[in-house]
Amino acid sequence: MLRPYIYVMPRCGGRNGMILRLRHLDAVPEVLLRNIAVFGLGYVGLVTGAGFADLGNHVTGVDVDEERLRLLHRGELPIYEPGLSELVERNVRAGRLRFTGSYDEALREAEFAFIAVGTPSGNEGEADLQHVRQAAESIGRAMRPSLIVVNKSTVPVGTGDFVADLIRRSQPRPMPFSVVSSPEFLREGSAIADFLAPARTVLGSVDREAAEKVAQLHLPLRAPIMITDLRTAEMIKYASNAFLATKISFINEIANLCDALGADIKEVAVGMGYDPRISPHFLDAGLGYGGSCFPKDVRALAYMAAEKGRHPQLLQAVMEINADQRRRIVERTADLLGGLEGKVVGLLGLSFKPNTDDLRDAPALEVARRLGESGATVRAYDPVAMPRAASLMPQVEMASDAYRLAEGADALIVCTEWNEFKHLDLEQVRNAMRQPVLVDGRNIYDPDLMARLGFRYDAVGRRTRVDALPAEAGGAP
Ligand SMILES: NC(=O)c1ccc[n+]([C@@H]2O[C@H](COP(=O)([O-])OP(=O)(O)OC[C@H]3O[C@@H](n4cnc5c(N)ncnc54)[C@H](O)[C@@H]3O)[C@@H](O)[C@H]2O)c1
Repeated sequence: MLRPYIYVMPRCGGRNGMILRLRHLDAVPEVLLRNIAVFGLGYVGLVTGAGFADLGNHVTGVDVDEERLRLLHRGELPIYEPGLSELVERNVRAGRLRFTGSYDEALREAEFAFIAVGTPSGNEGEADLQHVRQAAESIGRAMRPSLIVVNKSTVPVGTGDFVADLIRRSQPRPMPFSVVSSPEFLREGSAIADFLAPARTVLGSVDREAAEKVAQLHLPLRAPIMITDLRTAEMIKYASNAFLATKISFINEIANLCDALGADIKEVAVGMGYDPRISPHFLDAGLGYGGSCFPKDVRALAYMAAEKGRHPQLLQAVMEINADQRRRIVERTADLLGGLEGKVVGLLGLSFKPNTDDLRDAPALEVARRLGESGATVRAYDPVAMPRAASLMPQVEMASDAYRLAEGADALIVCTEWNEFKHLDLEQVRNAMRQPVLVDGRNIYDPDLMARLGFRYDAVGRRTRVDALPAEAGGAP
């Protein structure tokens, strides 16, 4: 059987990244079954709560949003995440998972308190910690002694100490407790698989014993566990997201050069990806990153740097390139249509990526806004995000499927690479449109096929803009 490794780094009392002897940690299965409270029942909290319940623990999920609790009590999910509904239902039925609005009820028996509340961007790009603050204070008021508070929210480096301080000051009388940082790396759309088979678990604490207890909870997942100090764990989360965002902006910069020089970004990415130092992941050129994590986390890291008097030039460039991708796709559409005034443009996809209904910082929202500002009528179709989108973008007319979206449209823009868009009957789409213009913001179609089907097709870095080629390269008109 595969055994997980636990690396205890020097910052948490390990010598030179020592590997913990596991005998005492995974010998007795009952030791692993714990009483856990999870605060915040969004994408992270619900998956974490249901996931730990599925491993046999008793989990109480807490949220301050009454509508969210009402839905959960009715057996409905407030978010779309593949497989989550079954996981929640199974564990509620087994009596291992329940939901409440009461911190007191959740903490009565809890040994672990997971904080999984949102940390959105503040006005200046800083992480807004108001929900973390409220959660920490409520925990302090309701906790019993020896609680281990585990922070899963993505929080600025140093927040672990801030949380400890808030809890201490909110306690009705002094009680011992520990704070452990456990940054979350799950991806929406594959969150359950990511919970059950993480690439690694990172834990940070000044209290090595508490960190090892949290490590025990994760042992059934059989992934490497690294234990370091609080600040280092918090930084690992930001550095990981900033690195992934950098990869996306890097490939988009190269894609724009491909457009200018006549190379094909898809093949460039394949050629690069064979190099194990580069890896093929996160080399998809297109509309850029969005969602509830990368944009706010890169901004927050840049803010932390600036606060300390550093100039985060790389992070600034990553954000600028990402913003340009959204602007450029609208300009490309305008070029192909000879202006946007009075044109009907359909958006294929709204969510920031496939398999989620999350619209936070979704590129499609900005694309829709820019199109509307330029005088276009905007329509959209998304397989799951339309109910959420309807209130966020009331001026956008929602279509019931991709073919209805195409009816009478002057252009379609692919904003999200949902599988169902990859297998459309493109002839039917073309025949329904007023003009056969398709701008592929996610590079999901084959440029040659699109040309054969009679589309005026543009993509990102895919030799579709032959006018950019010099005459001697054979591509200029
Ligand atoms: N969504 C992701 O893919 C993802 C991945 C990794 C890390 N994270 C991080 O995890 C954290 C949570 O993200 P999310 O996407 O799950 O957020 P979310 O907005 O989906 O959910 C947050 C939940 O917390 C609740 N809440 C707010 N204040 C509360 C309080 N005081 N007590 C109890 N509940 C409270 C809200 O009502 C909401 O239901 C963020 O810091 C985020 O950056 C998210």
